Amino acid sequence: MNKQPLRLTINGRERQILVAPYYSLLDTLRDELQLTGTKKGCDEGDCGACTVILDGQPVTSCLVLALSAQGSEVTTVEGLATPETLHPVQQAFIERGGLQCGYCTQGLIMAAVGLLQDNPQPSAEEVKFAIGNNLCRCTGYTKVVEAILLAAERMAEVE
Ligand code: FES
Ligand code: FES
Repeated sequence: MNKQPLRLTINGRERQILVAPYYSLLDTLRDELQLTGTKKGCDEGDCGACTVILDGQPVTSCLVLALSAQGSEVTTVEGLATPETLHPVQQAFIERGGLQCGYCTQGLIMAAVGLLQDNPQPSAEEVKFAIGNNLCRCTGYTKVVEAILLAAERMAEVE
């Protein structure tokens, strides 16, 4: 199938590439743009490992056709930290031990970043709901929830 042009703003930078019409946003990020921080777990929308922020909302990028995101803004885990400092959510995951093997971690972090954009002071229940589609096989969720609440607290102090 002929590739078609796709224009996206990814982590603040405009990118123009050619993609096959059947390519998902996840495969486009990983295979065409070498942004491999976004992980492929199930490729069926069940695990959340592929979560990115698309036009302000967290989405499972394996379920988004790349061409349907034409002209959109995408933030991946590579777009969170600066050369000087980690994003507060990343920092809190480290401090609270919210990760082990790390395969699920970027998806959880992007889900958390999406939550905190909309709801800067979530309750623990709201955090659990926001990460409800993100599966973790090794760490469990207690430390993850603690990390997200810590990040929220710190981000509120800065504002
Ligand atoms: S890889 Fe997309 S939800 Fe699992
Ligand atoms: S840290 Fe290993 S799957 Fe979550």
